[in-house]
Amino acid sequence: AIDPQFHENRDQVDEHEGHSVWGPVDEPEELGIHGTHVAVDFDICIADGACVEDCPVDVFEWIDTPGHPESEEKADPAKEAQCIDCMLCVDVCPVDAIDVDAG
Ligand code: SF4
Ligand code: F3S
Ligand code: ZN
Repeated sequence: AIDPQFHENRDQVDEHEGHSVWGPVDEPEELGIHGTHVAVDFDICIADGACVEDCPVDVFEWIDTPGHPESEEKADPAKEAQCIDCMLCVDVCPVDAIDVDAG
């Protein structure tokens, strides 16, 4: 499962489409965590898609990640600022790849 303390245990190594990327990153096998308020551990995500389907405000967008061992697509928290903290995505992800900091 995603480490809920990732912002303390990892370093922000990059930005992607306006959100942070938390390392380590070693593409294409290791992709880190995308997002901060809505954080998706790309190294855990298996592209199940429940988060993309269920998010009521369409926070997630698919991105291609060819060569990643778990899946060749990931749910990117492209619009994390729109999140309404409903926690549905956290509940439906079968591999616990998502952390939402509802504060
Ligand atoms: Fe979308 Fe709710 Fe997840 Fe926020 S907590 S990203 S609103 S499903
Ligand atoms: Fe990935 Fe979990 Fe969404 S596996 S696509 S983060 S439901
Ligand atoms: Zn991203």
